[in-house]
Amino acid sequence: MRAITALALLLNSTLSLSDTPPPPTPPPPELLSPLIPTKILATFKSLPNPVKYPQWTSTTGIWQFFDPDSWTSGFFPATPYELNKRITLCGATPANGLGIADWLSVGRSASTGLIKLQAGNGQGHDQGFLAFPFVEELAINPNNATAKTAILAFAKILAARYNPVVGATRSWDTSNATNFQVIIDNMMNLELLYVAADLSGNSTLRTIADKHADTTLKNHIREDGSTWHVIEYDANTGLVTKKRTAQGYSDSSTWSRGQAWAIYGFANMFRLTGNTNYLTTARRAAKYFLDNIPADGIVPWDYNAPLIPAPRPADSSASTIAATGLLLLAKYETTLAANKAYTDAAIGLLRNVTRLAWNPSWQSLLSNGTVNLPANNKLTGTVYGDYYYIKAGNELIARDLLKC
Ligand SMILES: *[C@@H]1O[C@H](CO)[C@@H](O)[C@H](O)[C@H]1NC(C)=O
Ligand SMILES: *[C@@H]1O[C@H](CO)[C@@H](O)[C@H](O)[C@H]1NC(C)=O
Ligand SMILES: *[C@@H]1O[C@H](CO)[C@@H](O)[C@H](O)[C@H]1NC(C)=O
Ligand SMILES: *[C@@H]1O[C@H](CO)[C@@H](O)[C@H](O)[C@H]1NC(C)=O
Ligand SMILES: *[C@@H]1O[C@H](CO)[C@@H](O)[C@H](O)[C@H]1NC(C)=O
Repeated sequence: MRAITALALLLNSTLSLSDTPPPPTPPPPELLSPLIPTKILATFKSLPNPVKYPQWTSTTGIWQFFDPDSWTSGFFPATPYELNKRITLCGATPANGLGIADWLSVGRSASTGLIKLQAGNGQGHDQGFLAFPFVEELAINPNNATAKTAILAFAKILAARYNPVVGATRSWDTSNATNFQVIIDNMMNLELLYVAADLSGNSTLRTIADKHADTTLKNHIREDGSTWHVIEYDANTGLVTKKRTAQGYSDSSTWSRGQAWAIYGFANMFRLTGNTNYLTTARRAAKYFLDNIPADGIVPWDYNAPLIPAPRPADSSASTIAATGLLLLAKYETTLAANKAYTDAAIGLLRNVTRLAWNPSWQSLLSNGTVNLPANNKLTGTVYGDYYYIKAGNELIARDLLKC
């Protein structure tokens, strides 16, 4: 009850605990725009041969393509699967423009460039992201042997990065093998281990995922629910040797995309395990994320980055990842008030990010992504920001909060 009241307060909204809720704030209509299928198909048709995948755009909105051995390569092939899902939810109509392609074929075709990565790749912990389209494929065809084999192979690569002394999978490789680095983003890759455990019956994979989540919960989350980006451990003793940032403003700051991964990652681990520690952690991360958005409603690339010099760049992907994570969290809230509070917050994030970053003239759906500010990679579209924008839209449609 206390958490619910706090959430209602922090949303500073019209939400009350009375039994007549105020009318819901509508999601932005852009979530259903025919520009979505139009742009995704155009990008698919422009994939280089041999295939490379879009990761971010230039500051004028032109996709930049990368070798499949990149952490983001799974997002584009997973996107047509989301549009295929949307057809099952909405049908194809002239207004939604979904009828321009067979999205399942597009997704399958776009996925093939990822298959070779199962033999090994340079993406550290990011095996879960690489496996996304194959997990989507199994939801459609549970007997697809190509997808099964790929999932098991990616899971094996991730599991091999587990260190039982630390109780986590290693996120990044380092030249000093004793220096064991784990980033908050790694929470997003644990689902792969659960999917692979279900396919193979190997429960060790689940144990590894749980241990990783427990260790992250203990060391990455601050008292106030914010997160460190990177924790360094001594691989031999398991002791924490450093808490720092890589892509954020400072070692003690909160990088907003990392905070969004924490909401989503812990909510998803609660979905997979039913362990309420994960639910509590997702709520704490969500509270920090929502509590600290400035009055203008623009989620900054780092919560502690200075406002001056203005404008402090946003990260539109943090908003769409957090919105999707909040919709997942809402599902597991048993009271109407808490469910509604997270749902309204997700819709609010989507409204605000649409107002800031929906960009019809760019190849990406959204602008105002910050890929890596310390590397001066900002004011871009991002393939993951767009993916979660579409995914959040599907979730709202499925829950009848957005009318096709
Ligand atoms: C199985 O999945 C792979 C990878 O997603 C895809 O390329 C292939 O077309 C699928 N095969 C069938 C028969 O559906
Ligand atoms: C289960 O998975 C772990 C991690 O990949 C592996 O070490 C172990 O050999 C597997 N067990 C079986 C019975 O295949
Ligand atoms: C390697 O990493 C460990 C743990 O972070 C650290 O204690 C040690 O000093 C490092 N060694 C070198 C040569 O930097
Ligand atoms: C959206 O932006 C408005 C300001 O325009 C702000 O009042 C509101 O709190 C923001 N909502 C969220 C969820 O960030
Ligand atoms: C959003 O993007 C536009 C165009 O790239 C840029 O001019 C503006 O400063 C950005 N705003 C924020 C808050 O990042």
